[in-house]
Amino acid sequence: MTRKRVGVLISGRGSNLQALIEAQESPDYPAKIVLVLSNVPGVQGLARAEAAGIPALVVDHKRFASRSDFDAVLDQTLKQAGVELLCNAGFMRLHTEAFVRGWWNRHLNIHPSLLPAFKGLHTHARVLDEGVKITGCTVHFVRPEMDSGPIVAQAAVPVLAGDTPESLAARVLEAEHRLYPHALRLVASGTVHVDGERVVGMTQMREEPPIFSPPI
Ligand code: GRF
Repeated sequence: MTRKRVGVLISGRGSNLQALIEAQESPDYPAKIVLVLSNVPGVQGLARAEAAGIPALVVDHKRFASRSDFDAVLDQTLKQAGVELLCNAGFMRLHTEAFVRGWWNRHLNIHPSLLPAFKGLHTHARVLDEGVKITGCTVHFVRPEMDSGPIVAQAAVPVLAGDTPESLAARVLEAEHRLYPHALRLVASGTVHVDGERVVGMTQMREEPPIFSPPI
């Protein structure tokens, strides 16, 4: 099996990166992280990469005059490392359209809501404000518009009485850590692909739908 060479873009804690690192320890995992890139120096995610023996670099966006200069260096660095598939994991910069076009259908992101609901920041606080009963997380291919693009996989997470943004974030994060490795496996193995802006190739749910909240 040849593993797809993966680059991971981070800006912080890197707990999703950690989930991907742990997944690739399995001998049948079809992806291998060859480079971790952070736009912020000194973040925990860089230490996680180093602990796993994965090359980790900082490309500090503050050193660049424009977004496109920053993205050009990002692009060049990823290509030099032979990256085939790119995963954003808590990467807090918007990409230029040129960058997104260059990685079209080879670029994933994870977002802590059931897209297309609750794009953007502060998702959990907004979910609670709206009285939503079921939320979750989404892995999708990246498109120029923020938090949009063909959906690879989603996980549903119940909102519980008394939840705070923090408690809900922690519950969703546990689902993210299972979802991202699963979605990357599907993409890297070629089990799924994009066809007309929809991800196709695997349509069967293992769990019994539907999920009720409050329970019946
Ligand atoms: C996650 O909730 C992810 O969905 C969002 O940013 C957070 C990153 O967390 N895009 P971590 O850096 O992976 O721990």
